Amino acid sequence: MPVLSRRRFLLGLAASPVVLSSCSKTVGAVPDSRRALPIPPLAASTLDADGTRVFGLRAAPGRTAMVTGMNTPTWGYDGSILGPTLRARRGEAVAVEFENALPEPTTVHWHGMHLPARCDGGPHHTVAPGGRWRPAWTIRQPAATLWYHPHPHGATEKHLYRGLAGLFIVDDDASPAALPHDYGVDDVPLIIQDRRFTPTGTLDESDATDVGLLGDTIVTNGINDAYLSVPSEKVRLRILNGSGGRLLHLGFDDDREFHLVATDGGLVAEPVGVHRVLLSPGERAEIVVTVTLGVPVSLRAFPIEERTGIPAGKAHRFGFDDSFHVLEIRPHPTLSSSAALPTVLTNLPAAVAAHPHTARSFDLRWHMINSSRMDMDRVDFCSTVDTDEIWTVRNVDDWPHNFHVHDTQFRIVDVDGEPPPAALAGYKDTVYTPPGQRIRLAVRFSDYTDRTWAYMYHCHLALHEDQGMMGQFLVLAPGDEPAPAQMDMSDHAMR
Ligand code: C2O
Ligand code: CU
Ligand code: CU
Repeated sequence: MPVLSRRRFLLGLAASPVVLSSCSKTVGAVPDSRRALPIPPLAASTLDADGTRVFGLRAAPGRTAMVTGMNTPTWGYDGSILGPTLRARRGEAVAVEFENALPEPTTVHWHGMHLPARCDGGPHHTVAPGGRWRPAWTIRQPAATLWYHPHPHGATEKHLYRGLAGLFIVDDDASPAALPHDYGVDDVPLIIQDRRFTPTGTLDESDATDVGLLGDTIVTNGINDAYLSVPSEKVRLRILNGSGGRLLHLGFDDDREFHLVATDGGLVAEPVGVHRVLLSPGERAEIVVTVTLGVPVSLRAFPIEERTGIPAGKAHRFGFDDSFHVLEIRPHPTLSSSAALPTVLTNLPAAVAAHPHTARSFDLRWHMINSSRMDMDRVDFCSTVDTDEIWTVRNVDDWPHNFHVHDTQFRIVDVDGEPPPAALAGYKDTVYTPPGQRIRLAVRFSDYTDRTWAYMYHCHLALHEDQGMMGQFLVLAPGDEPAPAQMDMSDHAMR
């Protein structure tokens, strides 16, 4: 059952007059206040003369009933909150005509996308109010659930919190057809976020914790307390943790097993049977859950039990004790049958580079990486294109952090020297780095070089990123010299 906070309970009383019909037809059932889960529409696109698929996105303010009875000022792409799902196939040329109708500068970053640095939408690519930006690239990566969101330096948390986020689904020919793939029917996007509201129903942007704004209300695809009706035995959920600072430890209220089929960058080798999946901010998981006729089940966020390195008594300050109802899944009265899950989903190459590689290390601690904070005018290192690198990422802090790298999908080589669990063995662009842990990543930047425009790596807890827990790197052709615009290269020594 959903647990209402006292504040929300009172608010609900104040904001929604209860209208009871004297001839109510509800017999023997709890009156149903849950709303149907909104499904972000698939973005319209046009094909231009050279075959490029062109999308439009317009960021603007609006108002959204995130909670029934409230009309909360929010920001969205092509709507009052979140954004349409962009969808394109591997090999396709795409372009996005972005327009900023917000009252302040923003950027649009294509999280998880392999693309030229000048199209990446990082903090250097701000679009002024009223301004436009048109990145164009070719999709060169396997099918995956990626996303887009603002990345203005110092204001990412706020822009994300106000509602700016959407999915970008990449399709390819190699994905097994037996996976549920009817968008919005048995293949359903879930953008899960936490929010807090003021007594007047505006977003509460005060009281940031050490991990940023932690909300007491979970919203899924922009609303809280939603249900999804499912017409088939199996449903695939493409889940994004779109929160700023909250980790989500997801599972079902009856503890049923479900299957993880994809992580950030695409399919895992074979379905992984699990009871829980942990997503830190920015991470995605695709899961397939089997529903039973007549048996509703709820997706929940559970307390996070793994707390090594988190000081006793502090975990609640990071939201680790919280639990939430996320989404009720209601089977239709008749369920169509679904294909059995394939036993093999994809062939993943081995994660370890056997040949010489470039080694780098990144120590995470207190809003800093390797003891320095983001400087827009400093490039932290230069990588050589098409070269294997091994990155050692250590959380040497007693706070939770995670680690995200632009332009690429990496593989986890080991976690504290052990091979990664199956759920972390596929393509990732963001990884949770618990305190005290050392994670080694096999990283490679392919295809694109740019002497001027940098990519970012950072903690994806949005407050930490805003506070400077971020750095930037150039990808260069062998022998090329960096030529960063207004960027000082004095600190680009290899680490
Ligand atoms: Cu999801 Cu640098 O971002
Ligand atoms: Cu990113
Ligand atoms: Cu962090």
